[in-house]
Amino acid sequence: MAKTKRLLFLFFLLLVFSQKNLRAANETGIHIIPEPVSVTAKPGQFILDQKVSLQMTAEDRSLSETAQWFRTQLAQVTGISIPERKSGGRAIQLHLITDGSKSSLGTEGYHLTVSPSVISLSANSAAGIFYGMQTILQLLPEDASAREGKKSLDLPCADITDYPRFGWRGLMLDVSRHFFTKQEVERYLDEMVMYKFNTLHLHLSDDQGWRIEIKSLPQLTRVGAWRVKRIGGWGESLPALAQEPATDGGFYTQDDMREIVHYAQVRHVTILPEIDIPAHSLALIASYPNLSCTQLPYSVNAGFKTPVRDDNALCIGNDSVYLVLDKIFTELAAIFPSEYIHIGGDEAYKGFWADCPKCKKRMQDEHLKDVEELQSYFIKRVEKILQSKGKKLIGWDEILEGGLAPDATVMSWRGMKGGIQAAKMNHHVVMSPWDFTYLDLYQGEPSAEPPTYGMCRLSASYNYDPVPDSVDEKFILGGQGNLWTERVPNFRHAEYMTWPRGLALAEVYWSPKASRNWDDFVVRMESQFPRLDAAGIKYARSVYNAICTPVQTKDDELEVKLSTEIKGLDMYYSFDGTFPDAWYPKYKGEPIKFPPGSTNLNVITYRDGKPIGMQVSVKKEELQSRLN
Ligand code: ACM
Ligand code: ZN
Repeated sequence: MAKTKRLLFLFFLLLVFSQKNLRAANETGIHIIPEPVSVTAKPGQFILDQKVSLQMTAEDRSLSETAQWFRTQLAQVTGISIPERKSGGRAIQLHLITDGSKSSLGTEGYHLTVSPSVISLSANSAAGIFYGMQTILQLLPEDASAREGKKSLDLPCADITDYPRFGWRGLMLDVSRHFFTKQEVERYLDEMVMYKFNTLHLHLSDDQGWRIEIKSLPQLTRVGAWRVKRIGGWGESLPALAQEPATDGGFYTQDDMREIVHYAQVRHVTILPEIDIPAHSLALIASYPNLSCTQLPYSVNAGFKTPVRDDNALCIGNDSVYLVLDKIFTELAAIFPSEYIHIGGDEAYKGFWADCPKCKKRMQDEHLKDVEELQSYFIKRVEKILQSKGKKLIGWDEILEGGLAPDATVMSWRGMKGGIQAAKMNHHVVMSPWDFTYLDLYQGEPSAEPPTYGMCRLSASYNYDPVPDSVDEKFILGGQGNLWTERVPNFRHAEYMTWPRGLALAEVYWSPKASRNWDDFVVRMESQFPRLDAAGIKYARSVYNAICTPVQTKDDELEVKLSTEIKGLDMYYSFDGTFPDAWYPKYKGEPIKFPPGSTNLNVITYRDGKPIGMQVSVKKEELQSRLN
């Protein structure tokens, strides 16, 4: 009995505590993503108007680029321009901590105090100041940019201490499958830094396009950057016709890329370049056909099945391959300040190596017992090339096959197991397991989404933890969300696929694990939506859609369970093909049955008497197939 009472008391405490957390987001009006380490709301407001100035002490001039970024951003979001001034009046004061009291803020943390007379922001580095500025921007009213003729805006007084859980907080943008312009990449950077991401991984090469100028290898951008134009139907499109011009694609000149790198640096982001080898290399092979085992002529893939299946890998026995790679990495190393270069390494079909005389000779000469060891030989040799340029190697988890290169870092994508294996071998790991972090997957009921494959709901991204129980956290550098773009043909859709899952991942990689709270996140996420709207950023509202889960009954009938990711939504449904609304049957929580003759279920969600989600429409046979 005493034990039951204790349990009840604990449950009560838990309830009070979670209510308090919810209140923290709901009532204080402080809705920050990613959730800071500590937020204490204080009474009063700081009034932001034209009289406010930005102040820094003389020795903080190293902040001037970051300060300039902030003044421009603030003016863009609010229409209020604040001058820089030495002292006096109401102010936003920036302060670099130089007295050795480095504290727990680390290299990216900050301390922010908002009082009625001053906003004081201090950090050990310009990056910390930058993240504090992002928090200030989120303290502005949600409708800051929508208010007509605004002259002043209130920020709630608060005391905030904040620093990230991980130093690697990345998004990956695949610019090969679809090319995104320099301006679009810069826009993506602007969006990701709102949520304190610090790494943009650019997937610069694949079967569908080579995207970076290499001056010593001009065919890469003359041939490899261009393909015939196809729209939709990825993986099924018509192969290139004889003489059909390759007009679709593009590439970044080295000057373009230097501008992107600089744009990122101002925003405290590292650009991580990826050249995907030894497979996923059709654009390279189309440009220089002597580099594959078969040496067949190919064109860059425009979403069609390749004429010879899986022939997209470099010949590991051919020494010209290493000369070409040396040229590529020499030029990349001069453009990208990143400590790492990503060499891909994923999904190599090894059958052509097994049959190739040059590859077989390489295996013999190097005493390699199988094609896995041949791949490992290749990666180790590439690691030496990178090291000769002062760079470290990172690759997808397939680089573990046949033996990991001595100093390689592993990016784990086929779940977490590759990352676990690498960490146990004392290698560094960046986590990006597909089922939690792949931004190209469905984020809600597929019938209400553009076609793709697989499922990665917002709640799955939010509830994932990048440090598995069996692993020492010190080997996990952090993680990423990865946007593959086979089915992302334009930038608006790139935004749609990134947000709000990017918000969830921002919190996973920045905030303390103990502060993770889905219900609280939903409240804070919804307060981001007007900010995203105001900035013209597209995002998915799939989290409001009904989830239809098939259930097989004992008598072999199909029933459907309906649910939603977020609390407090009502669901109305129809089986007769018409559009349900609040006058239709309301879902009561028990599985529902298809009436005889019905082949389709439509469901719509409501909140507080108003429709909120999109209507999802699922065929009986589709639900049946999900059971199989
Ligand atoms: C990958 O998704 N092939 C890394
Ligand atoms: Zn070969």
